[in-house]
Amino acid sequence: MKNIVILTGAGISAESGLQTFRAADGLWHGHKIDDVATPEAYARDPNLVNEFYNARRRQLSEVKPNEAHLALAKLVKNWHRGEVLIVTQNVDDLHDRAAKEYGVPGHLIHLHGELLKARCTKTNFPTEWHGDILPDTVSPFDKTATLRPHIVWFGEMPFDMDEIYKALLKSSLFLSIGTSGNVHPASSFVEIAKRSGAHTVEFNIEPSVGNSLFDETRIGKATETVPAYVDELLRNE
Ligand code: APR
Repeated sequence: MKNIVILTGAGISAESGLQTFRAADGLWHGHKIDDVATPEAYARDPNLVNEFYNARRRQLSEVKPNEAHLALAKLVKNWHRGEVLIVTQNVDDLHDRAAKEYGVPGHLIHLHGELLKARCTKTNFPTEWHGDILPDTVSPFDKTATLRPHIVWFGEMPFDMDEIYKALLKSSLFLSIGTSGNVHPASSFVEIAKRSGAHTVEFNIEPSVGNSLFDETRIGKATETVPAYVDELLRNE
């Protein structure tokens, strides 16, 4: 059995036209994390926080999955030597759409939530949501409650950590694609995979903060390095 766990970050969506966070023109240079990405920011100014996510949600209709997203979906479809799990830090739906194109739903965890979902502020139930969220948008689960973005803000617990750790502990191959390695717990996944004997590969346009932890590095744009690597894997399967 050769199980594969793949971690992706904003860099895999960059060539689809979505901003990353820490590049010079990144989202965290246009907005302060403390203003738009914490529970305190939402309590203080729900309008500002909602608008930050409304703008990014609206942008999704203008972009599409790129060759890197599609190559990973092709790997999920054609890899028969074990399980493939994609764990994305991204809240866009580009992995989801690539998976749909290859007819392989599932195999995907959104560690930091999803732009196309909203969450009831009382029951915490999530629901598909493609429009804008306003501070007085009524929850479908409780008429006395409103909806918030289904996004993991700083200081909140990421989703599905048990499932992710279980997959890492039985992985033989760990790929990290387009992430700067700045944010926990995602930045620690490579060490857990290594402890389980996995071969670890980083794909980036430049070495990330945690690059020294990886066995192998493929420098280049994700739309070039990822399809090439997937073809290598499937050729040698
Ligand atoms: N191909 C491959 N890698 C790329 C490309 C590309 N075309 N373009 C940029 N990158 C790399 C950058 O070199 C950088 O290492 O993608 C990475 C993006 O890093 P960040 O902007 O820090 O994004 P990410 O690592 O996903 O951030 C993690 O931080 O703010 C939180 O919740 C937010 O999920 C996000 C988390």
